[in-house]
Amino acid sequence: MKLAYIFATAAVLVSFNANGAGNEEAMAGESRMAVKEFFGALKGELEGAMKAGGPVNAINTCNLKAPEIAHMVSAKKGWDVARTSLKLRNPSNAPDAWETRVLEYFDKRAAAGDDKAKMEFYQVVDGSFRYMKAIPTAEKPCLMCHGEKVDPKVEASLKDLYPDDKARGYKAGDIRGAFTITRPM
Ligand code: HEC
Repeated sequence: MKLAYIFATAAVLVSFNANGAGNEEAMAGESRMAVKEFFGALKGELEGAMKAGGPVNAINTCNLKAPEIAHMVSAKKGWDVARTSLKLRNPSNAPDAWETRVLEYFDKRAAAGDDKAKMEFYQVVDGSFRYMKAIPTAEKPCLMCHGEKVDPKVEASLKDLYPDDKARGYKAGDIRGAFTITRPM
């Protein structure tokens, strides 16, 4: 009788944890790791390409490698891992309704003075765990390709690859966009 009671209690605790806030906190931690992995791989490719052939070469790398790395991390985790923004360069990075609301919320918090480097938001939505982390614009190297004035060669290459580019005119410290993760539960 006593044993059965213990088991029943354990079962209740397990089911509570599977749906409760503790589990969401754990998934947020795992999401932060995935973002680090994605960002680290991207940064490595970008820096390598810059050194090898300057910013025009790096645009081609970003164009090909950014989606490739996103797919690689997604496949490895079995989640959807991507980048998005309210002002897009690549239209295939477009936010859905939930992501748009979170991006607007980040901008509001930034305007109120919150630390952009630590800004994140997560929630269970329609049976998936969804996580977003803001991406602040650094002066180097981001402004070289997302700033107000860019080198004419960079300009020409961007026009060629992204005729509808909206990801321009940023200043250091602006929120450029966010990493976004959708994880089935
Ligand atoms: C060499 C040029 C270059 C540099 C430097 C660069 N980017 Fe980009 N960025 C691009 C290109 C090209 C894309 C489109 C990639 C794609 O097709 O997914 C892009 C896309 C993005 C996106 C995805 C959303 C969108 O608009 O499509 C984010 C977010 C982003 N960049 C942030 C940054 C940040 C933050 C930095 C600085 C750490 C940075 N970028 C530096 C060229 C660059």
